[in-house]
Amino acid sequence: MKEHFLLDEDIIFLNHGSFGACPKVVFENYQFWQSELEKQPVNFFTKILYPELEKSRRSVANFLGCDQNELIFFQNPTTAVSNIICNLNLKPGDEVLMSSHEYGALIRSWDEWGNANKVKIIKQDLSMPLVNENNFFQDFKKGFTSKTKVLFLSHITSATGLIFPINRVLSYAKKNGIITIIDGAHVPAHIPLNIHDLGCDFYVGALHKWLCGPKGSSFLFVKKDNQKWMKPLVYSWGKYGDDPGPSEFLQDFQWQGTRDMAAFLAIPTAIQFYENYILDNSKNCRENIKYAFEKLKILFKIDPISIGGDWIGQMVSYPLPKSTPLNLKEELWNNFKIEVPIFDWNGHRYIRISMQVYNKKSDIDTLLNALDNFLKV
Ligand SMILES: Cc1ncc(COP(=O)(O)O)c(C=O)c1O
Repeated sequence: MKEHFLLDEDIIFLNHGSFGACPKVVFENYQFWQSELEKQPVNFFTKILYPELEKSRRSVANFLGCDQNELIFFQNPTTAVSNIICNLNLKPGDEVLMSSHEYGALIRSWDEWGNANKVKIIKQDLSMPLVNENNFFQDFKKGFTSKTKVLFLSHITSATGLIFPINRVLSYAKKNGIITIIDGAHVPAHIPLNIHDLGCDFYVGALHKWLCGPKGSSFLFVKKDNQKWMKPLVYSWGKYGDDPGPSEFLQDFQWQGTRDMAAFLAIPTAIQFYENYILDNSKNCRENIKYAFEKLKILFKIDPISIGGDWIGQMVSYPLPKSTPLNLKEELWNNFKIEVPIFDWNGHRYIRISMQVYNKKSDIDTLLNALDNFLKV
């Protein structure tokens, strides 16, 4: 499958999770939209753009189980989440509950806002290894208090690469009138998702990661009821502009000044690519990740952070032995052209392996051999 992607042929790319990788046909479609714009910029921005954005929103909505008018394209999850945060009307002393596994940049966004507004940002620890949904729920439940007003939770975590069974936590929060925001940056085209079935207030996802869209394609789902109070961070023409959209919400968010929206318009092609080439092959990727998980257990002789199984998909994070030299990442790249991320999380270092359809099982074996040699030295 590697020939379908633009990735350098000589590298072993085991880090799809960070920024994805774009297939050639998707990238060509992205460039097609950029050329269309430049042929007649005024006509493009006033006449062509909005119906095309609608088509693109419709394809994402069908893919992820929601309504096209509940979706707004954003460049990345950070801006989408920041846009929710700045709309929250919380009082000093109120609490936002999240897990201790949230994405670092977003923890920072919440902490900065929390400090400025005297809102407590609670990071709930979970006992490890993660073994079942009940333990996950019971642990997480300890973080709720009468002051919890917002739940912010990853559906798949970043540094720890875990699929969280979020349904019970979500139902509990909803029953208690808590605003629910799910960070699904790693979810679209990685695990099945139906946003309406999930029933959260907000859902954020990246489309350039596992769906393999062009960089800078992400979305924010906002449940209809919440659209009344969601205002954009950047005000532009809104209802006084060219967007014929059916709601002020769409008009306010879609036009945020002149910008390149070609990545958003290439999403239907990315979905088609996923359906034609990725869907059936991703089972193989998950099997290879399980293989890596078992091999790392033997190689590192360290307990994993979950029992594997449904906790891992096309990514696995494994704690590195304490003695691992600090230059591991550089050594893997310089000597083997292996791109794989090493993260610090909770006072420990982790290696996170991603498997996408362009990877082979032999990529994992090359990594394991390199790790074995390196750790022996
Ligand atoms: C779980 C999670 N949330 C949010 C993000 C934010 O992505 P970005 O930095 O592109 O906004 C990431 C990025 O990898 C992530 O892994």
